[in-house]
Amino acid sequence: MAKKLFIKSYGCQMNAYDSARMAEILAPLGYLPCDGPEGADMVILNTCHIREKAAEKVYSELGRWRRLKADREAQGASMLIAVGGCVAQAEGEDILRRAPHVDIVFGPQTYHRLPEMVARARRESVFDTEFPVEPKFDFLPAERTPDGVSELLSVQEGCDKFCTFCVVPYTRGAEYSRPVAQVVAEAERLVAAGAREITLLGQNVNAYHGEGPGGAWGLGRLIRRLAEIDRLGRIRYTTSHPLDMDDDLIRAHAEVPVLMPFLHLPVQSGSDRALAAMNRRYRADDYRRVVDRLRAARPDLALSSDFIVGFPGESNADFAATLALVEEIGFAQAYSFKYSRRPGTPAAALAGQVPEDVKAARLDDLQAILNTQRLAFNRASVGRVLSVLFERAGRYPGQLVGRSPYMQAVHATAPRSAEGKIIDVRISALHANSLAGVMAASGPQRPPATAARAIA
Ligand code: SAH
Ligand code: SF4
Ligand code: F3S
Repeated sequence: MAKKLFIKSYGCQMNAYDSARMAEILAPLGYLPCDGPEGADMVILNTCHIREKAAEKVYSELGRWRRLKADREAQGASMLIAVGGCVAQAEGEDILRRAPHVDIVFGPQTYHRLPEMVARARRESVFDTEFPVEPKFDFLPAERTPDGVSELLSVQEGCDKFCTFCVVPYTRGAEYSRPVAQVVAEAERLVAAGAREITLLGQNVNAYHGEGPGGAWGLGRLIRRLAEIDRLGRIRYTTSHPLDMDDDLIRAHAEVPVLMPFLHLPVQSGSDRALAAMNRRYRADDYRRVVDRLRAARPDLALSSDFIVGFPGESNADFAATLALVEEIGFAQAYSFKYSRRPGTPAAALAGQVPEDVKAARLDDLQAILNTQRLAFNRASVGRVLSVLFERAGRYPGQLVGRSPYMQAVHATAPRSAEGKIIDVRISALHANSLAGVMAASGPQRPPATAARAIA
């Protein structure tokens, strides 16, 4: 009999990818995904440890699930509770001590063993946060069951960079790149099942160096190979480190039309002193040069970034350097965070921790500029023709919602048959969180800079 599985995921897109794979691994055991924890036979919390706030959510969610489990048990049913992801990796068995109603704790590198863990959980608490020698990807089912037209594909995992603020090298382990053949096979299956856009994922995705014909392939070469897949209309990749932006990858931005002109390239700070203390291994000028090279290759490229304010020792002058860099580069979109002290990372022990109110004020100042830039970027889209991949029905009848090359949400009146297609849309208005447009007649009036193309 079918059992219900609910997976709740926090954190980065790699967690979203992992959650999709967990559902696929558990499907042969009879588990079918459902939309909420109520009435579920199994619930999985896929957690994120990147900042304190993200990690705190875990125990409050587990508290709610404890009551649901008790209710189900009172009705003679059961509910298996599993905690995976980066908090599970970092806190390990502490989770079983603090939340004894949890049945399974597993890490980001062991979820391919979930079927055995579920079997064992009938008898005992299960705990598996190993970093296995054999990568999980070799054990995951080949079949993919994508639920949309835009899909994620992890090609690289882990990180060897050890930025002093970051937990990822500890929770995800050492850098690993999947072999080219494995990535291509998975991409082909996703496309055969209806995906039109694939986002290649990795904590350091542009450090990709997977084994392929003739030796290790870089990300640029992988992208060129994936671009050969018929009916794959769009390729993206995230998250990149500025240091690993090599010439071949930059050239791919000039030469591969399906590679979208939008890049998330975290800079973190505009101050060389702060960047050195963060162990980012580049100076602000190095970042500027990378952006220059990218823009020379692809003039319509738009950038997104991540920023940390209030890193230990950050002075007013350091922060001013960040604001100056933002003004100079101009970002279409960005994420910015107050520095969060993470136990076990080198920066947590640094002197000069910045007071909370200073961090908050700096974050406000930075976000004001970033918001202005984002709005200006979106406003400049009005009147232009952008290619839109229609993903799903909109809020109103006859409306579809999709994404522009720059990840902007675009809604337009369009027939259901346009779902899953990439169609030129003339942008007519800017709303709070989206753009509105009308399907444009294809033809020579299309501005070449949008690299717009329709895929039937
Ligand atoms: N691998 C990516 C980012 C991974 S984490 C990179 O190298 O850029 C995503 C973002 O979270 C980071 O870019 C950083 O801006 C933020 N972040 C990570 N650790 C943090 C911390 N301790 N406090 C605040 N923000 C943090
Ligand atoms: Fe974390 Fe730095 Fe690695 Fe990004 S590059 S995952 S910020 S250690
Ligand atoms: Fe969070 Fe782990 Fe991703 S800490 S950001 S879920 S790699």
